Amino acid sequence: MLDTAKNPTRPIALDLQDIHKSYGSLEVLKGVSLTAYDGDVISILGSSGSGKSTLLRCINLLENPNHGRILIGNEELMLKPAKSGELQAADVKQLESLRARVGFVFQNFNLWPHKTILQNIIEGPTQVLKIKKRPSN
Ligand SMILES: Nc1ncnc2c1ncn2[C@@H]1O[C@H](COP(=O)(O)OP(=O)(O)OP(=O)(O)O)[C@@H](O)[C@H]1O
Ligand SMILES: [Mg+2]
Repeated sequence: MLDTAKNPTRPIALDLQDIHKSYGSLEVLKGVSLTAYDGDVISILGSSGSGKSTLLRCINLLENPNHGRILIGNEELMLKPAKSGELQAADVKQLESLRARVGFVFQNFNLWPHKTILQNIIEGPTQVLKIKKRPSN
């Protein structure tokens, strides 16, 4: 599914190690590992239902993996086992901080229909990153 050449000359942007994810008896991710370096552009290919979105959603715990390690930059997302058998964030503040550094475009966009395109685009930067709107003149 993935083939990223190891390149030690650039900093690691994202490192996923042995990610497993099941929905009940359906084992979707069977130990996926991926290292992405700063500047990499990576495509994930696979048939519909093969787990592409699930893998992406595991990066910032929109889905809780059952096993594995997640590093964003040099920072490892601290995980702890939940009763459900999944891993969950051990430190919610750290999760919020890492989520603020990971962009994610949803497959079905999830736009707010009552807002303009510009209002949709600036919602994340203004609400999450607290970037001030430039005053209009
Ligand atoms: N919340 C969920 N509960 C149960 N099963 C799920 C859930 N989310 C995804 N699945 C199942 O996990 C599998 C992988 O789904 P996923 O959406 O990751 O596939 P995908 O590779 O992104 O597919 P597509 O190319 O259609 O976007 C599918 O069999 C899907 O039905
Ligand atoms: Mg998908």
